[in-house]
Amino acid sequence: MEVPRLHPDTIEDVKQRIDIYDVVSEHVVLRKRGKDYVGLCPFHDEKTPSFTVSSSKQMYYCFGCNAGGGAIKFLMELRKQSFSDVVLDLAGRYQIPVKTLEPEQRQELQRQLSVREQLYEILALTTSFYQHALRQSQGEIALNYLKRDRNLSEETIQQFQLGYAPAGWETLYRYLVEQKRYPLNLVEEAGLIKPRKTGNGYYDVFRDRIIIPICDTQGKVIAFGSRTLTGEEPKYLNSPETPLFDKSKTLFALDKARNSISKEDRAVVVEGYFDAIALHAAGITNAVASLGTAFTQQHIRLLMRYTESKQVIFNFDADNAGTSATHRAINEIESLVNTGLVQARILNLPDGKDADEFLNSSPEAVDRYRQLMQSAPLWFDWQIQQLLQGRSLKQADQFEQVAQNMVKLLNKLEDSNQCTYYIRYCAEILSLGDVRLIPMHVNSLFSQVRKTKRRFVSIAEPTVQSTPLVGAEKSLLETAETDLLGVYLHCPRFRDEIIEALEEKELLFTLPHHRFLWRQIVELQDMGNEPYRLYSQLQDRLAQFPEQMNQLSHLFHLSETKHWEDSTRAPIVIRTAIASLEQVVKEKYRRYCQQQIQQFDPNTDAEQMQYYYQEIQNTIVQIRELEKLRHNSQV
Ligand code: UTP
Ligand code: MN
Repeated sequence: MEVPRLHPDTIEDVKQRIDIYDVVSEHVVLRKRGKDYVGLCPFHDEKTPSFTVSSSKQMYYCFGCNAGGGAIKFLMELRKQSFSDVVLDLAGRYQIPVKTLEPEQRQELQRQLSVREQLYEILALTTSFYQHALRQSQGEIALNYLKRDRNLSEETIQQFQLGYAPAGWETLYRYLVEQKRYPLNLVEEAGLIKPRKTGNGYYDVFRDRIIIPICDTQGKVIAFGSRTLTGEEPKYLNSPETPLFDKSKTLFALDKARNSISKEDRAVVVEGYFDAIALHAAGITNAVASLGTAFTQQHIRLLMRYTESKQVIFNFDADNAGTSATHRAINEIESLVNTGLVQARILNLPDGKDADEFLNSSPEAVDRYRQLMQSAPLWFDWQIQQLLQGRSLKQADQFEQVAQNMVKLLNKLEDSNQCTYYIRYCAEILSLGDVRLIPMHVNSLFSQVRKTKRRFVSIAEPTVQSTPLVGAEKSLLETAETDLLGVYLHCPRFRDEIIEALEEKELLFTLPHHRFLWRQIVELQDMGNEPYRLYSQLQDRLAQFPEQMNQLSHLFHLSETKHWEDSTRAPIVIRTAIASLEQVVKEKYRRYCQQQIQQFDPNTDAEQMQYYYQEIQNTIVQIRELEKLRHNSQV
């Protein structure tokens, strides 16, 4: 289809209607900071938030990658869509009438919009149809099931618009297509009927099942969940994805929970429809359910729009499947949790019960559930609890294993304050109540965490590194290391990137004065100081070391630092410098291989020699690549 020219009025209407916070928060978890919002930039990889949104300016801007603009630009960049596609889409969403400059095109647009409208209409009608069927004699078993087995009140059944899909193969088909005259293809597109595999004709997707309508955040039905009444597989059957229904962006009951999530400033996520329904019925109305699919980043973003302090409680089954579901759910959003953007808590109910079973187990269960919610451990604490389960710290091998796993978990924490806090927390556990042992365990954990996290600082130099440098390499290193340290000090938002690059390639600072400086940096950071104060603190500290400071002064001279403050150039400077360090390591390795070869006797050690020859060949190829990379990025 040719791109329609939108009428300027339409563009203006859309711009008036949309809000940058609404648009961005659908894709990014935003947290209030001052009068703006911050989050992790969706346009580049980052671990500390540098992406800001200003409601008053209706603009976004990323200090990390300099992306910026208004709401429409944001969607264009994110979805790689044209201006008019984005405007059209927004117009559809906010039901703004679309005017184009040519009448035929206008018709096409109206047609597309009206498909969605008609799908909504079909689903609304179907919902009533199923609700009606529940009240007929054919729905008696279903209604009894809801009331007796599920303990649901008339009010809850109404509130959730629960229904019954009759047992016949074509009941809904006849109603919608033959009686109501909806086009066959639309009813199929709504996910309600399917073509028969043999012969012709269509059959209903949902038969003899409890129907649970799934709504969008506005409360309009966009799909159905269903539960068998006969033990038929699958137990739960959902609508397929349709133009209205995207599982990865939908949470069951969010329409009914959103106000309460805002009010309580946190959300509860459960696994099953009936768990969410039971919670709402019990007055815990900030509950939503995932739809039998993995909990995704998109889900959390959707949810986090409604809570200011970004708190979410995952109440998944505590059985094995539930525990792995918890891990899977959090895995998806772990980066958000570990950076402190989202506060996730885990609630496991006793005896492996789900929320529905638990709430129906006794009259006091609701109060108990609220208490358990209050005391639900944070994600990190929960993981520690899992580590300890079934282990005895009194046994040396198990103790060792637990301690090692703790270090692994600690290493995932991005925030150094959090890390310090949890080192102490773990040390207390390992001390088994003997407070005199705490400092020792703190120290031990500290050094191990540092070891894996800052591997490139603390590991001993590998043998290869001890082969002497040649002159050209020294000056290459002097420039590269100075650049890395310069950017690190003067362009703080690239610090993570530099650390990652060094870690990934297992690179070290080689020149003694740079190693010295790096050690100071690491020490200051490990003390948990504010990142932006590093520079001034470092200067204070170095004042005590005049000799080293002499060699490092150019890193602090105002006339020279300009070069490193330029954030647009920083990525190139980093890449070039890393390539230089890598190249020097490779050169050294090549020389090392050559020395090795000379020590061998060709008569007896042919195999080893062959190995080192091959290594030299490979290394030369790698060096050439690095040289190319350095020269290309220097321009
Ligand atoms: P479960 O089968 O774990 O438990 O389904 P439940 O909710 O306790 O089931 P009841 O109490 O026996 O009715 C949890 C959720 O997983 C999805 C559904 O969303 C369900 O609510 N599910 C489960 C499916 O999508 N398909 C299935 O076959 C089963
Ligand atoms: Mn259940």
